[in-house]
Amino acid sequence: MSDADTDHADTHHTAARAGAAGGGKPALRRALLAARAALTEDEVRRGAEALTRHALELPELTGARTVAAYVSVGREPDTRALLDALRERGVRVLLPVLLPDNDLDWAAYEGADRLSRAGRGLLEPTGRRLGPDAVTAADAVLLPGLAVDRRGARLGRGGGSYDRVLARIEASGARPARVVLLHSGELLEGEVPVEPHDRPVHAAVTPEGVHRFTA
Ligand SMILES: Nc1ncnc2c1ncn2[C@@H]1O[C@H](COP(=O)(O)OP(=O)(O)OP(=O)(O)O)[C@@H](O)[C@H]1O
Ligand SMILES: [Mg+2]
Repeated sequence: MSDADTDHADTHHTAARAGAAGGGKPALRRALLAARAALTEDEVRRGAEALTRHALELPELTGARTVAAYVSVGREPDTRALLDALRERGVRVLLPVLLPDNDLDWAAYEGADRLSRAGRGLLEPTGRRLGPDAVTAADAVLLPGLAVDRRGARLGRGGGSYDRVLARIEASGARPARVVLLHSGELLEGEVPVEPHDRPVHAAVTPEGVHRFTA
């Protein structure tokens, strides 16, 4: 392990302790975002290659006709190669469009040249909006997160957008695989703080591989 890897792991352990120490969601988010900001370009690039490879091998994705996903921004694990690979397989890929109240609408991914800049540094699909319920047709949902713990509890950025999506899917009776894409070190040993509205996920993919949860 290089010094950079060691530093990186240490930063994430600090993040895990911040959550376990009762700092709550805001403290844990700050620590995780600081760890992401400290990632080198090379770590980000190599991590994305490995993560894309593992994600494409997920049985939940190989059989899927419709996959809800998202366009990564900033220091999120890079999803762009994954989106193109899924589309090339003939999968219908749905991407979110952030609404003013933080809920999500959806539109089909039609290629990188059919994305436009939106608020908060996001990229959104330019195609026809299908409505917030469109996500309930997905066979698998890839969702962003800052961390997931060993129970499958997920910490997002705090808008509650994806908790709404997960609640909507649950209410519809659909049971798609729900998979979070993470950097190394973001699958935490300590517990992510949970509130009643938080919905667990089935799996997390990191550059190291796929981690499934029983909850
Ligand atoms: N189904 C819902 N309808 C409306 N608001 C909700 C719903 N679920 C969660 N929220 C609100 O979203 C806010 C943020 O929730 P939380 O801290 O769990 O965000 P998060 O999971 O980190 O973010 P995200 O889901 O966007 O990644 C909370 O104030 C919560 O009340
Ligand atoms: Mg939540």
